Amino acid sequence: MKISVLKETMAGEKRVAIVPEALKRLAKHNFQVTVQAGAGLSAGYSDEDYEKAGAVVAELAGMMDADVFIKVQPPTLEEVDTLPANKALISILQPLTRFDLVRKLARQKITAFGLDVIPRTTLAQSMDILSSMSTITGYKAVVLAADSINKFFPMLMTAAGTVAPARVMVLGAGVAGLMACATAKRLGAVVEATDVRPEVKEQVKSVGAKFLEVKSDESGAGEGGYAKEMSEDYKRRQAEMIAKHIARADVVIPTALIPGRKAPVLITEEHVKSMKTGSVIVDLAAEMGGNCELTERDKSVVKHGVLIIGESNLPSAMSYHASQMFSKNIERYLFHLCDEKGLKMDMADEITSGSLVTRDGEILHARTKQLMEQG
Ligand code: NAI
Repeated sequence: MKISVLKETMAGEKRVAIVPEALKRLAKHNFQVTVQAGAGLSAGYSDEDYEKAGAVVAELAGMMDADVFIKVQPPTLEEVDTLPANKALISILQPLTRFDLVRKLARQKITAFGLDVIPRTTLAQSMDILSSMSTITGYKAVVLAADSINKFFPMLMTAAGTVAPARVMVLGAGVAGLMACATAKRLGAVVEATDVRPEVKEQVKSVGAKFLEVKSDESGAGEGGYAKEMSEDYKRRQAEMIAKHIARADVVIPTALIPGRKAPVLITEEHVKSMKTGSVIVDLAAEMGGNCELTERDKSVVKHGVLIIGESNLPSAMSYHASQMFSKNIERYLFHLCDEKGLKMDMADEITSGSLVTRDGEILHARTKQLMEQG
């Protein structure tokens, strides 16, 4: 099977979908890989590295005979025009919100697989780019906050006096949130976290953070391990709990999201006003509108003395390891989707059917279709 690894074109995107280290294993499974010239440079991999590892390096025009095209970010509508019909594309697609792209892929008769809609099951864990990228994001959010704040994270006892530890509050303790808790804890901060799913409590404690309970019997556990929309009563109680704790926090890292929905507002302007001057919010939900109502996507702004960072592509800031993890996920995914004859297209398999978005001119992804019908 022929694979073409495309160079990323989105501004600020530094990752590459396949790293040289994967090529030997891919070759063993009969994948022949062509990499677009310069595709790995911003992640630290030269064309020579790819050639040494066994790939062909080519310009775009010379790599159109592939069976599968692979990239990190969703293609632009113009890029879809350049893809040959009835061939496969594997990338992040954001199908739950990017209806224009989904329609275009269908019109172009692309067999499009969305890496971001692979079901989050135990079997698919090694293919789950959302988890690996969120691991990076949780780490980087804390490092960014530590770099932006005018304080130490750890408690220090020095001849020049005692320094109190920084207080970090994490809202939403999924993959990114737990990694943020663990990283902040390692740096010596006092860490608190909350989540609508009660089962997360033990995980929060296991990384050394304190779980902040919302006084309610309502559980936020929804489909597929994700949260569900909470009642107005719960939201009011949660806002009160946040108000109580946020005023003491030096760093707040909100990560709350339900796939395909606008991010819930957990931090209001009133909350921000109550925070200490010089404290920092790193809003990981910036791409979907932000968990803080004052967040501006891809900007750092100071509001009421609080720095609010709305960076929406933190994995790209760690492009070397992000590419390595992304590549490993894709490799596992390819081995799952293909056999020696090519793509198996086993629609009884939940990973294949769960992540296949378009094929033969049709939109097949159930949740995407449902959301498109709702408008
Ligand atoms: P996840 O689904 O594993 O975790 C989200 C957590 O938030 C879940 O535990 C969920 O129960 C909780 N949650 C949902 N609604 C909530 C609410 N109203 N109140 C409290 N908790 C709530 O997601 P993951 O993979 O950890 O990603 C977290 C966020 O990071 C997402 O918004 C994702 O889009 C974002 N992200 C941001 C990047 C960036 O560079 N800024 C890069 C990668 C991911």
